[in-house]
Amino acid sequence: MDILIADASHIKYAQVICDTLAESAKVRGTGIAKRTPEYIIKRIQNGNGVIALDGDRFAGFCYIEVWGHQKYVANSGLIVHPDYRKQGLAKKIKKSIFDLSRKKFPDAKIFGITTGLAVMKMNYELGYQPVTFSELTDDPEFWKGCQTCKNFDILTRTERKMCLCTGMLYDPSDPKKQDKNIDRKSFERLKSIKESLFLKKKKS
Ligand SMILES: CC(C)(COP(=O)(O)OP(=O)(O)OC[C@H]1O[C@@H](n2cnc3c(N)ncnc32)[C@H](O)[C@@H]1OP(=O)(O)O)[C@@H](O)C(=O)NCCC(=O)NCCS
Repeated sequence: MDILIADASHIKYAQVICDTLAESAKVRGTGIAKRTPEYIIKRIQNGNGVIALDGDRFAGFCYIEVWGHQKYVANSGLIVHPDYRKQGLAKKIKKSIFDLSRKKFPDAKIFGITTGLAVMKMNYELGYQPVTFSELTDDPEFWKGCQTCKNFDILTRTERKMCLCTGMLYDPSDPKKQDKNIDRKSFERLKSIKESLFLKKKKS
């Protein structure tokens, strides 16, 4: 398995990346910001993507987005093809995109929003902390990305204060020593409280 900083030779994988992201969101039944091949190609052309390849076969991807005049960057769109899951590949891709973010944008805060326990665990291990949305970028372009998520009405209703996703932040100026083990039970409970609060209201 090769884990590489994506370049022009990987543009041909943009479609399969988008298809795999969309298909996985459908299977999980969760919301996700939709990405077009053009959007992915732009990140690849800027040297802001990491791709995993098994020979010629697409295995995984993640990209960097830059917000608020480089004050913030997000590591987004993490995807591992179903054939390559549960082998530690996401962890390697995450580490690689994190290292690339630190190298290219050393002063930027790195953040993400996610509903996935796997992603939360990996973020914890890299030194991210869970934070309220107010500590994330206020760049409207970032939040616009949520418009294509099926839970966008929740984000609007709460005036962007909270949603089903949890915000996580790595602050390079404040690398706190922390317990690297995520409390799985608490996370599942928080998730179910959020779902019953927000999704019930949605139906009524
Ligand atoms: C989430 C995803 C990227 C994980 O990829 P993967 O290569 O199977 O993950 P890894 O094998 O590197 O596992 C990383 C850690 O997450 C855990 N993990 C993996 N899948 C998990 C799941 N579905 N639920 C809970 N934990 C999970 C692993 O146990 C591992 O933790 P450990 O180091 O404590 O053992 C992959 O399942 C995927 O692409 N899913 C669809 C897209 C998605 O959900 N993206 C995140 C959007 S927020």
